[in-house]
Amino acid sequence: MISSKSLIGASLLLASSAMMLQAQNTATVTLQPSEKSPIIEKEIYGQFSEHLGTCIYGGLWVGENSPIPNQNGYRLDVLNALKELHVPLLRWPGGCFADEYHWMNGIGPRENRPTMVNNNWGGTVEDNSFGTNEFFNLCEILDCEPYLCGNVGSGTVQELAEWVEYITAESGPMAELRKQNGREKPWKLKYLGVGNESWGCGGNFTPEYYANVYRRYQTYCREFDGNKLYKIASGASDYDYDWTEVMMKNAGRYMDGISLHYYTVENWNKKGSATVFDTEGYYRTLAKCLGIKEVVAKHCRIMDKYDPKKRVGLLVDEWGTWFDEEPGTIKGHLFQQNTLRDAMVAALSLNIFHTFTDRVKMTNIAQIANVLQAMVLTKDDQMVLTPTYYVFKMYVPHQDAKLIPLKVNTPAAQMVDDHAVPAVSATASVKNGITTISLVNTDVDKTSEVIIDLNGVSAKKISGEILTAANINDYNDFGQPEKITLKDFDTKNLKIKDGKLTVTLPTKSILTLSLN
Ligand code: AHR
Repeated sequence: MISSKSLIGASLLLASSAMMLQAQNTATVTLQPSEKSPIIEKEIYGQFSEHLGTCIYGGLWVGENSPIPNQNGYRLDVLNALKELHVPLLRWPGGCFADEYHWMNGIGPRENRPTMVNNNWGGTVEDNSFGTNEFFNLCEILDCEPYLCGNVGSGTVQELAEWVEYITAESGPMAELRKQNGREKPWKLKYLGVGNESWGCGGNFTPEYYANVYRRYQTYCREFDGNKLYKIASGASDYDYDWTEVMMKNAGRYMDGISLHYYTVENWNKKGSATVFDTEGYYRTLAKCLGIKEVVAKHCRIMDKYDPKKRVGLLVDEWGTWFDEEPGTIKGHLFQQNTLRDAMVAALSLNIFHTFTDRVKMTNIAQIANVLQAMVLTKDDQMVLTPTYYVFKMYVPHQDAKLIPLKVNTPAAQMVDDHAVPAVSATASVKNGITTISLVNTDVDKTSEVIIDLNGVSAKKISGEILTAANINDYNDFGQPEKITLKDFDTKNLKIKDGKLTVTLPTKSILTLSLN
């Protein structure tokens, strides 16, 4: 029998949950289409693969003799998942690993390749079975641009010069070596990084010293047989504006791009769990992620001083969340789970990058598989797609599309210290007559009604895909690979009147609308 007391309790509960349901933000988004606006370079959607943990071995590569289904050694489930993302560019072999990597150890018959210790990442023995040929062939399968990171910290000028020759020359001693290794035609190589984190694991240089080293190394990286290099200097970490200043001043004219690394980590000594966090931890992570806007803007201002025509690109070639490694996994392998919070970080970051398309020409989320904010996680023959993967999938239409500048007026979902985490973030672009609008509602408790002033953009046909979950720390795992997946958005939740589109975003959700 139900007592009257419990009935009162139940109705109070219903009333308060109804109030919770009613709690709603209202935001406006005004599209400002312009013929002059820039293209969102597809390289903004670049990926990073390092010899670190199981990113390469187990994640991308299992070898031809593996019982795991593979195409010439590359695991098929991962290949197929990545093809859906239209990966435009892949950075390799590191990261910190790059400055200890000697490429000649990774060519020729695999049984003859020497081993090495991966000193940066857990002291794992590297057998060099995935090397230059394996990487460039992978890029061909994925139809993406390779981005090679050269060893400056512990390598030589000759070593890097010969690597470029091995990859790109039609003839000569290095080309002969490549041919002996089964590859007749050279590959194309555009993006060439001259070292990585040269202020840290890449050699602990001062910017003044590295600027000179950079100038010397890049001199000998030749352009063979019509191959055109885009030379990238190792850039600053986060708030190190002096590094960018010195590099631009002393070496700006010798580079096509300079990198920047920014990880979403609140406290490097206490990174916190990827899956166990509360609402405060959620908003603090988003606040840190949003900090990238100011950081990029400041580096851009420095670059504008030395390069007002914006010839040199700022390349955020490492970004993403960095949490504690999952309990029970190998220390130094940086294997972390990926929740709806990570998806939010991905969407907010990409929305920010879109606003810097005049200077930010490439970004690389770290990393593609099994490391940090990964697209896919693998365990033996199983693979799961992460919430971050789904954001990259939803954002594919923005690749190489024309940016539609916009204005957002939104309340804060939460204040973190003095910084507002906006309830609504938005980005829009147009390609082949289709307008794509991506909207994020960061708010954990409130839905957000967004009124979009389309400013003449056609919206005769609208469809959408949405990513959300019951909890901010929900994730996909090997036992439950589909806890968070993309769903079709019910367009009954849209209203269109007088050139304005009104959409109600569920709490903590990411929506991409397609209009034509
Ligand atoms: O992505 C992991 C590591 O983070 C990279 O190797 C290094 O460049 C950065 O410190």
